[in-house]
Amino acid sequence: MSRFYATTPIYYVNDEPHIGHAYTTIVADAVSRWHRLLGEDVKFLTGTDEHGLKIQQAAAAAGLDPKTFADGIAPRFAAAWDSLDISNDDFIRTTEPRHYTAVTELLQRCYDAGDIELDYYRGKYCVRCEAYYTDDELLPVDLCPIHKTPVDVLEEENYFFRLSRFEQRLLDWYEAHPGAIVPEFRGNEALGLIRSGLKDFSVSRTSLTWGVPLPWDAKHVTYVWFDALTNYMSAVGFGATDEASQTAFETWWPADVHFIGKDIIRFHCVYWPAMLMSAGIEPTRRYAVGGWLLVDNEKMSKSTGNVVTPLDMVDTVGVDGLRYYVLADTPYGNDGDFTRDGIIGRYNSDLANNLGNLVSRVATVVGSKCGGIAPAASPDSPLAAAASDAVTAAITAWDEIAPHRGLEATWSLIRATNAYLEANEPWKAEPGPAVDVVLGDAVEALRIVTVLASPAIPATTQRIWERLGLDGLVSDQRVPGDVEWSGAAAGRPVTKGDPLFPRIKP
Ligand code: ME8
Ligand code: MG
Repeated sequence: MSRFYATTPIYYVNDEPHIGHAYTTIVADAVSRWHRLLGEDVKFLTGTDEHGLKIQQAAAAAGLDPKTFADGIAPRFAAAWDSLDISNDDFIRTTEPRHYTAVTELLQRCYDAGDIELDYYRGKYCVRCEAYYTDDELLPVDLCPIHKTPVDVLEEENYFFRLSRFEQRLLDWYEAHPGAIVPEFRGNEALGLIRSGLKDFSVSRTSLTWGVPLPWDAKHVTYVWFDALTNYMSAVGFGATDEASQTAFETWWPADVHFIGKDIIRFHCVYWPAMLMSAGIEPTRRYAVGGWLLVDNEKMSKSTGNVVTPLDMVDTVGVDGLRYYVLADTPYGNDGDFTRDGIIGRYNSDLANNLGNLVSRVATVVGSKCGGIAPAASPDSPLAAAASDAVTAAITAWDEIAPHRGLEATWSLIRATNAYLEANEPWKAEPGPAVDVVLGDAVEALRIVTVLASPAIPATTQRIWERLGLDGLVSDQRVPGDVEWSGAAAGRPVTKGDPLFPRIKP
């Protein structure tokens, strides 16, 4: 059986989970769910990034040691994902022993390969923060962004990863793996970074205490990216010597897709494959790069106070309303704007009017005209062709990591089915074979829609599945086998229920 290993970034625990994190996580979840429908063996990983100076400082500000601080925040991410129906199979924390094992092993391999060497790091340092700042982070005239006091130029011994040696190997790898970064324009950004010349990067600090010590020189602690990126391998047993871990690593590595935001392209698409090449490990197959989700056209931040917590919007539109909006509204890769009007507009049009209305019409008319039992679909229904087109387009779209197009294809079948009902007006006709054909076709189309929409709106599609009297779980259906125009919905008791998506006043 083919397997699919997908990951989200691991999120820093110095922040609360917000809609930006939720966005990437929902897209990765929906794509993972789609691959389960394809019958693949799926592992979907998310987690938290808990080392480094930012966390050390946030902990200190809260009067806690970093581990206690992280122990308080990591479960909030896990809980946020639970509440959003995120189907992750594992949750990695970089403070876990399995992660230390993996980071230690990867460092040692790159060191043994001669690609990690001692050198000097020179930078602008705020003594009160105990941190280096880049020129972008500093205030004008080199003031510390936190203390607004001048920074010092300091030099310290660091180990460096010789990224500069990997330019050609990276370019060759991308040349040999077209489409490894989606969407394509984000791939061009990564290639641009590589072509513009690669600088060695620092993998350790002596000024830092919170992290994984270097195995060959314990006064150095592993610096952020080398530590964080390795999580993707820690979760599948890298570096562990027991047989189960070794089998897991052979089974799951290389990962199929890393879902990331555009802010971390350099680390994932440049640093990470080079680190793996150095260690003699196959790089991840694909990177799916999302754009930035703005809230009312502004970047979300604590200072502007526009941090929308996922749960806030869930109170209004439900979990599936939120999931559907972020998946359908913004082509993955582009920047998107998250607005109250936008989410409510989508909810009312696509969920309440199109899907909700179809479910309620079908159940009502099957109840009133067909004795509550779904009639047989006709093999040459005009909807059969619409369904087959929708399935084909959805398969292509999800494979290209374009959930908005996958959902557009699915909603085109919903619209075609509503139009078919409106053209035939079975609610006005006397019960009989003519009405049965129309409703049989509509129920069959709705059955297919339910499977196709399930990665986006898992809870609601399960409810629809049950209202159609179908057995088992919608998530156990298979694409394409179970989305063929087969008539599988016929003969089942259809039940009417509360509106699935009650309209919201704009
Ligand atoms: O960078 N719009 O963690 P992080 C869209 N720990 N996506 C957003 C977003 C927004 N407004 N805000 C955040 C880190 N994201 C590292 C990653 S991985 C080995 C280590 C998402 O907590 C987006 O996916 O800053 C972005 O890449 C990620 O959160 C950054 O999360
Ligand atoms: Mg960030």
